[in-house]
Amino acid sequence: SILIIDFGSQVTQLIARRVREAGVYCEIVPFQLADEGFERMQPKGVIFSGGPDSVTREGSPRAPQAVFDSGVPILAICYGQQTLCTQIGGSVEGGHHREFGRADVEILKASPLFEGFWEVGKKYPVWMSHGDRVTRLPDGFEVIGTSPNAPFAISVNEDKRYYTTMFHPEVVHTPDGAKLLSNFVHKIVGLKADWSMAAYRAEMVQKIRDQVGSGKVICALSGGVDSSVAALLIHEAIGDQLSCILVDHGLMRMNEAADVVAMFHEHYNLNLKMVDASDRFISQLEGEADPETKRKTIGRLFIEVFEEEARKIGGADFLAQGTLYPDVIESVSFSGGPSVTIKSHHNVGGLPERMNMQLVEPLRELFKDEVRALGRELGLPDSFIGRHPFPGPGLAIRCPGGISREKLDILRQADAIYLDEIRKAGLYDTIWQAFAVLLPVQTVGVMGDGRTYEFVCALRAVTSVDGMTADFFPYDMDFLGKTATRIINEVKGINRVVYDVTSKPPGTIEWE
Ligand code: XMP
Repeated sequence: SILIIDFGSQVTQLIARRVREAGVYCEIVPFQLADEGFERMQPKGVIFSGGPDSVTREGSPRAPQAVFDSGVPILAICYGQQTLCTQIGGSVEGGHHREFGRADVEILKASPLFEGFWEVGKKYPVWMSHGDRVTRLPDGFEVIGTSPNAPFAISVNEDKRYYTTMFHPEVVHTPDGAKLLSNFVHKIVGLKADWSMAAYRAEMVQKIRDQVGSGKVICALSGGVDSSVAALLIHEAIGDQLSCILVDHGLMRMNEAADVVAMFHEHYNLNLKMVDASDRFISQLEGEADPETKRKTIGRLFIEVFEEEARKIGGADFLAQGTLYPDVIESVSFSGGPSVTIKSHHNVGGLPERMNMQLVEPLRELFKDEVRALGRELGLPDSFIGRHPFPGPGLAIRCPGGISREKLDILRQADAIYLDEIRKAGLYDTIWQAFAVLLPVQTVGVMGDGRTYEFVCALRAVTSVDGMTADFFPYDMDFLGKTATRIINEVKGINRVVYDVTSKPPGTIEWE
């Protein structure tokens, strides 16, 4: 395996993705825990990430001495290059403002690092990080790639198999970066491409059996991809020792809860109980307009209902959760202090503490796209795996200004028509997330011979990679016109439709 030591770069996760895409297992460990991680993993190679600090600052992060002592190959990127050089006898000069930018690196000498795609004497685009500079290389190093602003753009010690780049191979702006990382893990470290979902599945099944023994596990299945894949994997490992509970809070899309239950019952012999708690949720949310109160109420009720159901089936020893790798990394990262809460997304955050159970988290090591691949491996249909993300509080946060059962019904119908049109137009997979919002505004309209005074429906569709930033989707006007007409004609209670053309930032994807 490969150990990635995280010095706090914004793009460290991309290193892990590229390495895994190359078929090699890797883990990211923050620099404070790198000693322990190195000892535990016994990796065959190590990658040092970039980072925001300056190695010239006293107390700035360093790599564990054990890594150098072990003799394993190292790839050191940006800040990693500087700490490596500082730690083994080079010098670094500080005081430069760190900035990212495109640069062209000229190759001076052949190396296994770029064998097969970069030739001596030619120039190639890379994404550079200018900041502190290495001014003297440690003994045994030579420069094999250079650029006007970064004379030591690529410097290496081929004997020790230490490779350093001042640019970031992990980002897409370095077009050949993925190949470079692949060469490092295959040609230099010598690992085979054997990390696959089939291998992961088999390994995880064994791990779950070892952890759970003859214990009982419960899982809150939401119908989302993560909890579904987690449940299927655990089911494969321990069969009927797993019980799943789907709490229908009445805030799902049209027919959603029933469809999910039907799929699991038909195709998998999963022990799944659906609890219709919609009256309880909606009566407590009735008239509630504050977005954060809605989220908290839903979170609290969810835990209550789930606990009651768990008690009815005689409790359990373990709680299954679909925690993903990015959540794990975020929770140990050392970024500069707490960030502002824009929205409290972790709807059921308190569940494990409250229920005092051990966690089974079979997806802890996976990225979202890997979870999808594992889902496919477990036989989940593509239509299920490719579904748009859906927020835990569901339609409650798409009904600004006071919830009522009637409004939820109107919204559900409009949303179903909108998604139907998107599917018919073949746009569903191009769009990252699309939904309708029912505005708390009534407007005047005319239908037939009569005056109407009904609600406004806003349509939203965005493209995104990870939900952190997003652009509104540029439909053609015919599509919007046709969809609006259908909604107004078919949904009683809506007489006007508008399209949201806000990107994120400054907007967010959901309206509240
Ligand atoms: P925002 O609105 O913050 O949404 O731009 C980013 C992504 O997160 C989803 N979202 C939520 N998911 N609980 C969730 O589980 C929430 O409270 C919540 N709020 C937003 C949103 O649908 C989008 O995919």
